Parts: sequence; C-alpha cells; structure tokens
Amino acid sequence: MNKVIVSLLLTLGITGMAHAAGDAKAGQAKAAVCGACHGPDGNSAAPNFPKLAGQGERYLIKQMKDIKAGNRTVLEMTGLLNNLSDQDLADIAAYFASQKGSVGAADPKVVARGEALFRGGKLEQGMPACTGCHAPDGSGNAAAGFPHLGGQHAQYVAKQLTDFREGNRTNDGDSMIMRGIAAKLSNKDIEAVSSYIQGLH
Ligand code: HEC
Ligand code: HEC
Repeated sequence: MNKVIVSLLLTLGITGMAHAAGDAKAGQAKAAVCGACHGPDGNSAAPNFPKLAGQGERYLIKQMKDIKAGNRTVLEMTGLLNNLSDQDLADIAAYFASQKGSVGAADPKVVARGEALFRGGKLEQGMPACTGCHAPDGSGNAAAGFPHLGGQHAQYVAKQLTDFREGNRTNDGDSMIMRGIAAKLSNKDIEAVSSYIQGLH
C-alpha cells in the first residue's frame, strides 16, 4: 500500500516537473533585456541589482511571478514581465540557474559578527541560524525554494533584510519566515551578515 502511494507520488512529481521544466537555451534569448541590469550572465555589476546567476529555479520563478503580480514591488521592472508566459519565466529561470555566480569580498572589520549570526543565529531571542535554510556555504536549497545567498551583493542583501523588517517586502508567505527573522536584526547585524554573505562561497 505504502509503496503504491510512494510510486504514485513519484510519478505525479516527475510529471509535474517535466511540465514546468525550463529550457536554458531558449531562456538566454528571452533574458536579453534583463542583462542591462542583472548582467548578461546574471552577474550584475551594480550592487543594488541582485545577481541571478546560480540562483535556484524554483525561487527565481516565484520571485518573477510575485513581481509580475505586484506582490513584490520592483519599480525598475515595472511592466517588464507583463508579456512573458509561464513558459518564458521557466526558460529564463533555467538560464540564470545554469550560470555560475561570482563571489565578492567580506569586510574584515565585521566578518566575525556576520559569521556568528549566519552560523549561530540569536538563540536567546529564538532566531534560528541562516544555515538551516540557506546552507552553510550559502547555496540555499533549490528544491525547497530557499534562495542561494553566497556571493550576493551586500547592498542588495541589506536592503532585502531591511525591507522584510520594515514590512516593505512581504512575499515570504503566511509563515512570515523572513519577516520574523529580520525583526530580530539590528542595523549593525544587517550590515555584518550582509557583508559576510557577499564573501561567502
Ligand atoms: C532597470 C533594471 C532592471 C531590469 C531591466 C530588470 N530587473 Fe530584475 N530587478 C531589478 C532590481 C533593482 C531588483 C531588486 C529590487 C529590490 O531591491 O527588491 C530586481 C529583482 C529581480 C529578481 C529577484 C531577485 C532575488 O534575488 O530575489 C528577479 C528574479 C528579477 N529581477 C528578474 C528579472 C528578469 C527576468 C528581467 C528581464 C525580463 C529583469 N529582472 C529585468 C532591476 C531590473
Ligand atoms: C526557516 C528557513 C529560513 C531561515 C532560518 C532563514 N531564511 Fe532567509 N529566506 C528563506 C526563504 C523561504 C526565503 C524566500 C522568501 C520568498 O519566497 O520571497 C528567504 C529569503 C532571504 C533573502 C532574500 C534573498 C533574495 O535574493 O532576495 C535573504 C537576504 C535572506 N533570506 C537572508 C537570511 C539571513 C541573513 C538569515 C539568518 C539571519 C536567514 N535568511 C534565515 C528562509 C529562511
């Protein structure tokens, strides 16, 4: 009985994945307009534009759908996703996921504080370590949709954590995982952990 259910779930899962699968080659052409800000290979030059290279497909698709639907506000991208189908988004996600993400450097002055937060959390305040979901090397968990963070621009990361804390980014679901975590971070914590993430690989 259990075996039947497991194989049924596996079949459904595999069919579901095949249906949504993106084509990285087709995605490269569709992502041409994105390269102006995010870099042609997804490694953006400007620190306020997030790197998309090496990011998980599931996370990328969710963010694009959230931005398109207005559940996450990105003024710079206004209207850009309106004419893209779900297949286009899957193809674009497959392209950026297949690229290699570049890594920056952490500020040595704050790296110890950043590392302590990333690896240890703030247990006395009930804040879990970032590693539990984003992995010890910052590579995230692509299948679960937990984003890859390692090497991301510190300025972008700090803005996201501040936006979660201040309620300006609210697309982390009903469980409010990131809003709950960011509520426990001071400005100095955010500066330190964001710098640490920029150099993490
Ligand atoms: C004019 C600049 C610009 C262009 C062009 C642009 N973006 Fe963006 N994008 C941004 C900015 C800025 C953000 C982050 C905003 C913030 O601070 O939350 C962003 C965020 C994203 C994110 C979320 C990344 C993350 O780590 O959560 C995705 C995915 C994304 N863009 C995909 C695209 C795609 C696909 C295209 C092309 C169809 C595109 N963008 C074109 C500026 C741009
Ligand atoms: C329980 C799991 C969990 C823990 C622990 C966790 N995160 Fe997250 N984080 C997530 C999820 C899920 C998202 C994606 C939310 C969404 O879909 O928009 C996310 C998103 C983020 C983002 C936005 C990434 C981007 O590209 O825009 C940043 C930055 C981030 N987390 C940093 C951290 C830091 C720093 C810590 C530790 C202090 C941490 N997270 C702890 C689950 C977690």
